[in-house]
Amino acid sequence: MVDFDIFNPPGIETDYFAAWTALLEGPGLVWTTANGGHWIGARGDIVRRLWADADRLSSECLAVTPRLGEVMQFIPLQSDGAAHKAFRGPVVKGFASRFITALEPGVEAAARELIAGLRERGACDFVSEFAEILPLNIFLNLIEVPLADRPRLRQLGVQLTRPDGSMTVEGLKQAADDYLWPFIERRMREPGDDLFSRILALPVQDRPWSVDEAQRMCRNLLFGGLDTVAAMIGMVALHLARHPEDQLMLRENPDMIPAAADELMRRYPTVAVSRNAIVDVEVDGLTIRKGDLVYLPSVLHNLDPACFDAPEAVQFDRGLIPVRHTTMGVGAHRCVGAALARMEVIVFLREWLAGMPDISLDPARSVTMKGGNVGACTCIPLVWNASID
Ligand code: HEM
Repeated sequence: MVDFDIFNPPGIETDYFAAWTALLEGPGLVWTTANGGHWIGARGDIVRRLWADADRLSSECLAVTPRLGEVMQFIPLQSDGAAHKAFRGPVVKGFASRFITALEPGVEAAARELIAGLRERGACDFVSEFAEILPLNIFLNLIEVPLADRPRLRQLGVQLTRPDGSMTVEGLKQAADDYLWPFIERRMREPGDDLFSRILALPVQDRPWSVDEAQRMCRNLLFGGLDTVAAMIGMVALHLARHPEDQLMLRENPDMIPAAADELMRRYPTVAVSRNAIVDVEVDGLTIRKGDLVYLPSVLHNLDPACFDAPEAVQFDRGLIPVRHTTMGVGAHRCVGAALARMEVIVFLREWLAGMPDISLDPARSVTMKGGNVGACTCIPLVWNASID
């Protein structure tokens, strides 16, 4: 039994990873009294095993956050079993690799536009001026909407990534639906070549999507791809800023970038998921009772030395099999956007290293982080010499 607040563990504001890995020193499964009481998987093998156990642990609850699951009703994320399969099928097809390849030029253009705007300045807060904007541009590309629509989506992205308390969970869901509805409505009526059209044109088993299901699915895609990608790209930039030797290595060996992206995504996981037990589940002599909530942070799998050798070391030649780590989940709900996210990280590394001089952290300002279902940096103050070509 511990008193561990998953939204605010001690030290999270300076080091998300150290704040969480402190739990690796205790038992593999702990009950925290914080946030109404729930289990936390606190050892790599247990996190991975419970995460993949979709028969006994349901995804319906979505999160420990009160009311979030009831309000969001994501499809496919909050469905189980046969219903999940029926919804996930068309979504997976919508993300087929040929579409991801076709999206790459748009992602490159979006990254270059942002880099061009920063290059001459010599300094930026990477989080608000790059990491949080790139995924918005990519989402607009996905649904084939002009980048000029960005300010409206940006407002939503900010509330999602850095909620300031001005919006309730219901308000956030409503704002997302209001933004998405005109596109969903048009794509259901006149399908185009964009992601929503592709998915909505495919049947859910043998019937069309209902309007409610279409909204829940598009909401899932919007929320699934903003916060997560922003957090990951932030961590990758922070790593580069702290490791000039890796900037040099990747500039000199750009063919290493895909392997580097895989290793950085393993090393800096910040997503945790929640499950509710459908039946009693025995783990290490403890019983997770039917109905109990279980929190599974991928950081405690990817950074457990029993699962990965020297897990905190970034080794671009680790030869990772990407599906072995849990950054993108494991089992039935493994991220449908995983290939897209990987492509985004690769394109970011390629374009950033090609377009920017060496970056470092501004010694006069601090890197700050936040906890939550998706942990992230809230400020990464970067500096560089703008007069170098
Ligand atoms: C680095 C970026 C990303 C990370 C770390 C990430 C992480 C994850 C994880 C851990 C899961 C599993 C959730 C669970 O088991 O409960 C998941 C599922 C999902 N992700 Fe991602 N994700 C990323 C990017 C994206 C993108 C770009 C999209 C779409 C635009 C997306 C859409 C989804 C959806 C729809 C699911 C639900 C899949 C299902 O329930 O079958 N994600 N993601």
